[in-house]
Amino acid sequence: MKYLSVKEISEKWNINERRVRALLQDKRIEGAIYENHRYLIPINASKPLDRRVKGQRLFEDSPLKGMDFDFKNYRKKYPTEDGYFGRYGGCYLPKNLQKAMDEIYEGYLTIAKSAKFINELREIRKNYQGRPTPIYHCQNLSNYLGKVQIYLKREDLNHGGAHKLNNAMGQALLAKYLGKTKLIAETGAGSHGSAVAMAAAYFGLKCDIYMGEVDIEKQAPNVARIKVLGGNVIPVKEGTKTLKEAVDAAFNAYAKEYKNAFYVIGSAVGPHPYPLMVRDFQDIIGVEAKRQFIEMTGELPDIVTACVGGGSNAIGMFEAFLEEPVNIVGVEALGSGKEIGKNAATMTFGKENILHGFNSLVITKDNGEIGDAYSIASGLDYPGVGPEHAFLKEIGRVNYVGVTDDEAAEAFFLLSRLEGIIPAIESAHALAYAIKCARSMKSGSILVCLSGRGDKDMDYMLKRYPHMFLK
Ligand SMILES: Cc1ncc(COP(=O)(O)O)c(C=O)c1O
Repeated sequence: MKYLSVKEISEKWNINERRVRALLQDKRIEGAIYENHRYLIPINASKPLDRRVKGQRLFEDSPLKGMDFDFKNYRKKYPTEDGYFGRYGGCYLPKNLQKAMDEIYEGYLTIAKSAKFINELREIRKNYQGRPTPIYHCQNLSNYLGKVQIYLKREDLNHGGAHKLNNAMGQALLAKYLGKTKLIAETGAGSHGSAVAMAAAYFGLKCDIYMGEVDIEKQAPNVARIKVLGGNVIPVKEGTKTLKEAVDAAFNAYAKEYKNAFYVIGSAVGPHPYPLMVRDFQDIIGVEAKRQFIEMTGELPDIVTACVGGGSNAIGMFEAFLEEPVNIVGVEALGSGKEIGKNAATMTFGKENILHGFNSLVITKDNGEIGDAYSIASGLDYPGVGPEHAFLKEIGRVNYVGVTDDEAAEAFFLLSRLEGIIPAIESAHALAYAIKCARSMKSGSILVCLSGRGDKDMDYMLKRYPHMFLK
């Protein structure tokens, strides 16, 4: 009998060596032997079928239970013509702004779906943004944690250092086609603000960015970036001085300027058609990631995960996997506690309510008022969540879990030290969940959306966690 080495069989079967070793350890390659500290595989051994493509339940409450839903026609059915995902979504705005939404929706359906627009956006993504962004196998982190393999979708390598530009360029291009001369946006972490300032510079538009005073201080490097790029940073002093109030202020400005301005909403939230547009502009993340992951490993990941603020990187990542037998998990910020004002875990603690023109799960006080949200991550501390996430939770297709500030901080430092990649503190929430899973699972693979890079967070993290820095 002629035998091949692991390397040779990985080339023959077109899967990576790690995967071959995992199959050997699971005793799934017939006739393989272990001799002189190496595996030998019969040349005519057949490649084991990919179990995961048939669906593997990893957890008791596996989100695979939502698989009985018809995902083949999902995108055609959701959202509905008036912007609903089940009972979530819609458009709850005064009449003048309703008109502005109608103009955007019509533009989206006609202009943004034209071959000319699509080709222009493709060109921008390739040559300006540097897409496709790669998938990276965290070999060191995986070895450190045990046998589970962790992979990252590197949205931090997208131009600007976060996924936000995928959406900002799409909406700004539409604004340009609609003849608008100014972009208005809110920002929490400053990633979306920077992305919109880049888009404004690229298209030659004016740019006003509304940002809470607390976030201006926490995310100083991004504030400087916005200014260098030519954007106006307008400080918001109301309420918690964070993302919710920044959205309030941006909406107020837009209500006065909508004839000449376009409001570039930065997440999969807001009135119809924003959750639809943002999803469609972000779904490139999952489309690329699925193809790249299969190319790299020969199979689908066991778990796909992303952090959820408003939910744009998560929905972009999840969409391509909805009809695949993959566990999908959204990670929200559990902050520093369960009480209102200490977290941004909308999916866990939120109630149905209307915020910023749409119906979704929202952190709500007993008297019906919107509650404050908090997270170490400025990009996650929003009291609402995109309506599609509320729907995906309701039908059981996606699981939503919480990660605390401290768990995210541990992941932030761990990835930096072991892989030389500093994640955004938002993305570190998804990574922290992957780390937790890797510590408890015996085998498998987890694909994490690394939504952004952490340069913006370094000063704050070193101040708040000096002991982790010194370790
Ligand atoms: C790097 C990064 N990741 C994630 C988020 C959260 O937003 P979303 O849930 O829309 O992806 C933000 C928001 O600012 C961000 O800057």
